[in-house]
Amino acid sequence: MNDKTLISKAFEAAEKAWAPYSGFRVGAAVLLEDGTVICGNNQENRAYPLGSCAERVAVNYARATCPNVRIVAIAIASPDSERPITPCGGCREVLAEAVRAQQGADIRVIMSDRSADEVREAMAADLLPWAFEFDGR
Ligand code: THU
Repeated sequence: MNDKTLISKAFEAAEKAWAPYSGFRVGAAVLLEDGTVICGNNQENRAYPLGSCAERVAVNYARATCPNVRIVAIAIASPDSERPITPCGGCREVLAEAVRAQQGADIRVIMSDRSADEVREAMAADLLPWAFEFDGR
């Protein structure tokens, strides 16, 4: 699957976000090595800190349903962002857990602005230098 298609799936997911408090909808589409795409979106809560980012919903859903299939890429998009969406620090930790502890292979992070005009790309490991670790893990 090419990046454009993966980004369009992230936009589709964003349409189903639950974001009544921020009004900022985000979608994420995770591509697995077998071609499966698993999507998520931000899920807010009236108790604000309980909300989840789109990336975390998608990555955790992928890890819960396909724990033994490697994640190769994640596209992140928001119809409400003029700039490419970059994952928050917490989501970088969640990506780092998949990269370092679970699969031992890096993940391409594809970040889009609202019109998919500007697309940035980075590897998950580069987005979190000096990630938290213990016991050498
Ligand atoms: N959000 C995401 O879902 N992903 C990001 O990368 C940045 C922020 C969500 C969290 C919250 O629901 C809303 O966007 C505003 O911060």
